[in-house]
Amino acid sequence: MKGIVLAGGTGSRLYPLTRIVCKQLLPVYDKPMISYALSTLMLGGIKEICIISTPKDLPVIEDFLGNGQGLGLQFTYIEQPHPAGIAQAFLLAADFVDNQPVTLILGDNIFYGDYFYGEGGFARTVRDFHSGGCIFAYYVSNPQDFGVIEFDRTGRAVDIEEKPQRPKSNYAVPGLYLYDGRVVDVCSALTPSARGELEITDVNRAYLERGELQVQQLGRGTAWLDTGTPSSLQEANAFIEAIEKRQGLKIACLEEIACNQGFIDRQQFQRLIQALPECDYREYLERFLRQSDAAV
Ligand code: DAU
Repeated sequence: MKGIVLAGGTGSRLYPLTRIVCKQLLPVYDKPMISYALSTLMLGGIKEICIISTPKDLPVIEDFLGNGQGLGLQFTYIEQPHPAGIAQAFLLAADFVDNQPVTLILGDNIFYGDYFYGEGGFARTVRDFHSGGCIFAYYVSNPQDFGVIEFDRTGRAVDIEEKPQRPKSNYAVPGLYLYDGRVVDVCSALTPSARGELEITDVNRAYLERGELQVQQLGRGTAWLDTGTPSSLQEANAFIEAIEKRQGLKIACLEEIACNQGFIDRQQFQRLIQALPECDYREYLERFLRQSDAAV
């Protein structure tokens, strides 16, 4: 499975915060927003990752993340000249996808909970995925702001609408999608919506109409946070801070995840630590190393 992080867009709802720094590099408590999306892919066992952003922001993101090698990952960077829709990501990354299954995550979506950090959840979904599409359904109070799934009485998904005025359910579609390699062809056949974008909801509808879309419910024990507005960004900050302080464990610590996933070995992990300045983050990684040594 390959992965794509879509990290472009205008960030207009966060202006003027996004005048200099793109949304996906804004801090969410103690790390840049994009780390959370990357951590989700890594927790799914995904190592080959393409990052898509604007011509202005891509070099800054690349400066922050590098080529991924230190984390045992492989990053590819692709420009999106204009924000022409989420589904355009697959057209821009067609060579990268190369007919393989691919997971797309939106760079401003944050997922947290046992489903992602525990055994047998997301990692298993990724491992067991072979064909068609797979999206998630998450109960929210404001479905009209998202893609919304309509279910029949038996709980089968029958339709998906993008930001409907009258939502048919409270189940929103989070920005995390798994597709087989045919997704590039599906996107090539799309026409722009009324707002001029290639809509991810149309991709999902195409798979649904063929009877090839799995919809998995993310339960109440999972947090899916939005970071697109000043107030949702603030809420995400508070959420991450509360959990991290309570447990003394970091959410989306990429070095820790790379080590736990076996993407890097102990020596590589030590090298990552040595490259850091003296800081709380370094202390955290040193503590992680001591504790994992003690556990062996
Ligand atoms: O967050 C989940 C929702 O994301 C889904 O429920 C919706 O179905 C889906 O359309 C999308 O809705 P948004 O209103 O959040 O989409 P937005 O235009 O804000 O784009 C989401 C992210 O993707 C944002 O961080 C910017 C980035 N993006 C967006 C577009 C349209 C790009 O990088 N390029 C683009 O062309």
